[in-house]
Amino acid sequence: MSDAAENTEITPEAVNAAVDAALAAIDASADTAALKAARSAHAAEGSPLAKLNARLREVPNDKKAEFGKLVGQARGRVNQALAAREEELVAAETAAKLEAERLDITALPARARVGARHPISLLQEQIADIFVGMGWEIAEGPELEHEWFNFDALNFDVDHPARQMQDTFFVDPVDRHLVMRTHTSPVQVRSMLERDLPLYVLCPGRVYRTDEYDATHLPVFTQFEGIVVDKGITMAHLRGTLDHAAKVLFGPEARTRFRANFFPFTEPSAELDLWHPTFKGGARWIEWGGCGMINPNVLRAAGIDPEEYSGFAFGMGVERTLMFRSDVQDMRDMAEGDVRFSEQFGMVV
Ligand code: DAH
Repeated sequence: MSDAAENTEITPEAVNAAVDAALAAIDASADTAALKAARSAHAAEGSPLAKLNARLREVPNDKKAEFGKLVGQARGRVNQALAAREEELVAAETAAKLEAERLDITALPARARVGARHPISLLQEQIADIFVGMGWEIAEGPELEHEWFNFDALNFDVDHPARQMQDTFFVDPVDRHLVMRTHTSPVQVRSMLERDLPLYVLCPGRVYRTDEYDATHLPVFTQFEGIVVDKGITMAHLRGTLDHAAKVLFGPEARTRFRANFFPFTEPSAELDLWHPTFKGGARWIEWGGCGMINPNVLRAAGIDPEEYSGFAFGMGVERTLMFRSDVQDMRDMAEGDVRFSEQFGMVV
């Protein structure tokens, strides 16, 4: 070989130059790979320092100790600098790797937006809970109902206005006498026929009327119907039950009152009014639903002896309840299914 290093005499300048070059390369190494390259260029076999070391053989004996020390110390400094830099770089690389792999096991996962339950479903469940809490059962009936259950068994005259086409969705063929139920009251009759006495039943469900679709009417809406048949039931039980439900739903300040009314399936019948100090428009009475003592004809239609048993019934609209309870101005918001409307009512179950 004939390159410069091969022929370099061992001098303090040559050794220092080799050390300076090595230290500069070590310093400049930004990662362990660069440091490895610096090591092979400046400390390994074939590096200027190694070559200087090899030339020690040629140094006259009286200079061997001095030059040996010079080169030995130079190699020592370079090796030390390599080891120190390696330690630093390995530590930094390990730290960076750990940081990159860090997992926050307490972090909340990103949630997909799943929508919201409909306030009518929530309120319907809340109403059901009030009655289940008093030991009542929940019943359901078909929405496509036989006219007999929807009208006849409930003591509607054949010429009652509800039987006219303008109020009721009759279902073809008409001679099958099927209707979309206009109220949840047919479940009274079904419950009396299907269940044992005494009877304490709440029936929430969807009902249908040929009503306009406007701020206070929906052609498809929701009612809850209550039915009690037992011995010795009076109108006081009816009043106490509804007053309790009103206070649970609207708060302890809520008050109820009865106004005389007529329904074919109850006698006497009443309109239930509800008063609350913070209703929109101030403290006032609103109509909440209908109720009364079950007409003996209805008990008889279900095979129950009115001499032995008596009962009460009531029916209210869930949409109307939600309107007054949560100040909803337009019932159509409840039908249109915009999730932003539902979200306002939270996810309370
Ligand atoms: N079914 C009636 C309606 O839809 C409401 C109703 C009134 C139900 C009196 C009852 C009741 O059970 O006793 O308008």
